[in-house]
Amino acid sequence: MSTVLDEARAAREDALHRASAANHGAAVGMNVDKVTIRGGRPLVGRIEVKGAKNLVTKAMVAALLGETPSLLKDVPNISDVRIVRGLLEVHGVKVTEGDEPGDMILDPVDVESAHFAAIDAHAGSSRIPILFCGPLLHRLGEAFIPDLGGCRIGDRPIDFHLEVLRKFGAVVEKQPNGIRMSAPNGLKGAKLELPYPSVGATEQVLLTAVRADGITELKNAAIEPEIMDLIHILQKMGAIITVDTDRVIRIEGVDRLEGYTHRALFDRNEAASWAAAALATQGDIFVGGARQPEMLTFLNVFRKVGGAFDIHDDGIRFYHPGGDLKPVIIETDVHPGFMTDWQQPLVIALTQAHGTSIVHETVYEQRFGFVDALVKMGATIQIHRECLGGHPCRFGQRNFNHSAVITGPTKLYGADIEVPDLRGGFSHLIAALTAEGSSTVSNVGIISRGYENFITKLRLLGADFDLEG
Ligand code: EPZ
Repeated sequence: MSTVLDEARAAREDALHRASAANHGAAVGMNVDKVTIRGGRPLVGRIEVKGAKNLVTKAMVAALLGETPSLLKDVPNISDVRIVRGLLEVHGVKVTEGDEPGDMILDPVDVESAHFAAIDAHAGSSRIPILFCGPLLHRLGEAFIPDLGGCRIGDRPIDFHLEVLRKFGAVVEKQPNGIRMSAPNGLKGAKLELPYPSVGATEQVLLTAVRADGITELKNAAIEPEIMDLIHILQKMGAIITVDTDRVIRIEGVDRLEGYTHRALFDRNEAASWAAAALATQGDIFVGGARQPEMLTFLNVFRKVGGAFDIHDDGIRFYHPGGDLKPVIIETDVHPGFMTDWQQPLVIALTQAHGTSIVHETVYEQRFGFVDALVKMGATIQIHRECLGGHPCRFGQRNFNHSAVITGPTKLYGADIEVPDLRGGFSHLIAALTAEGSSTVSNVGIISRGYENFITKLRLLGADFDLEG
């Protein structure tokens, strides 16, 4: 008779086999770790962006809450989606392709508990597992969350998440390799206030409150476009959610939710990344699928730096209109402020601006790791721990280097550089594409976490590069 440990071992073997098969399948065209780029050529052409990485992965988790299957449209082929698909499948959710490219059907009817070994084998480099708690507690009365991954851009704690789950009535036990949760008395609506408008913690509350008993009130909520799109999905499923002008979200728990059909919001972070690449390389890129409302603040800054854009029904054309780029002062913030994920790709263009720019990063405490490579290539960037260029933030005087001063224009020269994280990694690609001479960019696999088929897109846009295994 097999023991629990034997079953766990078998589950881990199965999960590792499936994960490697999935990764192999996915990486078959992307089995690259290094790219040699010959810079100095403008990127010109049209690319398409699909559904937002930071919505699609949460929409997949939301499907767990439905009593019937869901259909999610415009799902991008990125590794973060494959990780969440693997996590759903180890919990018994059937995930299949739909009729159109990018369609994903999620059938949660046979959802079941999973061995921690199987969960651990899939969770890898993602933070999404923490969002499985609410849905699994509702469906199964228990959940296990392995220690989380994600980009190293700060401590990335989950204290807000655990705090709100406890207030819903969950019992949270820290274990050596993760967190085990249970809900002996079910989950009840709660009055909550976040210390900081955390996107993840707001999603945690939404995914838990919609099936909790009674009303939940969340003060100081995040209201990013991806959050609003998740609320649209939950409303389609049968949830009752209001969002007030003062960023208070109220949810009335309901007894049953149905599956949804939803076309995911476009990826504004990917769109902004390609726009920044067009500016830095003095190019002209049409980003199909991009929409003005969700990029309003980015478009203002893009124009102030000296970029130009044309809004079309099916996308946005971003281009360098000629003339000198101008310095700007940017302070990242929660929505509708300048999104923290937009600053890394844009910094390359700021190294080409005539004057001194400042970026004050107020969302993450350590998000300038990527500038080391730019300085190596010839950029003049100094990092400071003071709150520069804007309002004092929670990182001021806590010894976090969270303000950058960029002086330009400086010529960038090709160098050997290594990708540190997802958005910083894309900024490395832009730097190599902008620099004079050849650069070798290693560890590029990280970029496929959030940028679908970026190698194909670079080729489409006329970049001059070779892949290395
Ligand atoms: C989401 O991360 C996005 N990731 C991030 O995008 C994005 O930069 C961020 O929101 C802000 O918009 C996904 O959606 C998968 P937070 P999240 O909770 O939810 C602190 C990318 O490249 N905090 O809003 O993890 C935290 O340390 C990624 O696509 C706590 O202190 O962000 C950070 O300083 C990068 N305790 C701040 O709040 C907590 O329990 C904002 O984090 C949770 C967060």
